[in-house]
Amino acid sequence: MQVAIFSTRPYDREFLTRANAANRHTFVFHEARLDAGTAAAAQGAQAVCAFVNDRLNAETLQCLHGLGVRLIALRSAGFNHVDLPAAAALGMAVGRVPEYSPHAVAEHTVALVLTLNRKIHRAYNRVREGNFALEGLLGFDLHGRTVGVIGTGKIGACFARIMAGFGCRVLAFAPSVNPELTALGAHYVPLPELLAQSDIVSLHCPLTPQTHHLIDDHALATMKRGVMLINTSRGAVVDARAAVAALKSGQLGSLGLDVYEEEADLFFRDLSNTVLHDDVFARLLTFPNVIVTGHQGFFTEQALTGIAETTLANLDLFEAEGRPLHPVSVERIV
Ligand code: NAI
Repeated sequence: MQVAIFSTRPYDREFLTRANAANRHTFVFHEARLDAGTAAAAQGAQAVCAFVNDRLNAETLQCLHGLGVRLIALRSAGFNHVDLPAAAALGMAVGRVPEYSPHAVAEHTVALVLTLNRKIHRAYNRVREGNFALEGLLGFDLHGRTVGVIGTGKIGACFARIMAGFGCRVLAFAPSVNPELTALGAHYVPLPELLAQSDIVSLHCPLTPQTHHLIDDHALATMKRGVMLINTSRGAVVDARAAVAALKSGQLGSLGLDVYEEEADLFFRDLSNTVLHDDVFARLLTFPNVIVTGHQGFFTEQALTGIAETTLANLDLFEAEGRPLHPVSVERIV
């Protein structure tokens, strides 16, 4: 089967080509992001392989359908960027990679927590300039602190396990209880209680209409003063403007982001020679107590191998039986 693969970087090509060593499918790699303007590049393909910032709205899907594309194989767990009702109406199947090393994202989340708390980003620069003063680098013991985990699926559970290992008290909020967390001694509480009691709040829920701007002005105001907020889920779960205001007032003590609401125009490319047009993002980068990484939580050897292998499994089954191994259906938009 011919597959048009969008938003590819050299590492994507390397891992996908390795997974397709038997050449069961013909891969055509495109660097461009998939949207209605670039969809025509899928000419001749029966499947399209897309990543997190590709724009799979009704217009793009109609264009792909007109070209003969019948499968959208996502290289991600999240599927908030696909108009699922439009895909269903066109009879197009959508597959995803539901799990590929939850450890990769959970460990990156912990890296953000530790870096922000112990100011490693600032210490690194200071020491290189011969400045060994400690003023401004004061952190706190994680041991005994309360960590609030919002979304307790595969990644949230893995993060909770690590934080419990530090000796943290873990509070959890999700629509359904994950017994793995209760076995750890974590307590499920209503969201307002989690926000009011946590020293660190970490987001691990999908982006849905219910979680869009879950952390807004109001939520931030109900959190402990000086709280640490970490988002490695999807950018729009946090209202970035509200976060800037809370950072300015000191209500938000520190912020670690691996995802950003408007990241589609920024991440996964080198923009170091261009001017930043996003003023909210530019303001975030000025705070000493903010760390932003460019959606790299998934970026480990194990995760890229898992993404490539599961993508191949989705393509194989679609070719054999007309359905991907891990389908996403309209009912999943909750
Ligand atoms: P999962 O499906 O295993 O878990 C999601 C959890 O969120 C479940 O516990 C679910 O009940 C909960 N949830 C759903 N709606 C909620 C709501 N309204 N409020 C609170 N919790 C809610 O997903 P997994 O694999 O743990 O991934 C979580 C998210 O992490 C993904 O949806 C994706 O957005 C993000 N992600 C980020 C990556 C990165 O590189 N930064 C890589 C992979 C995933």
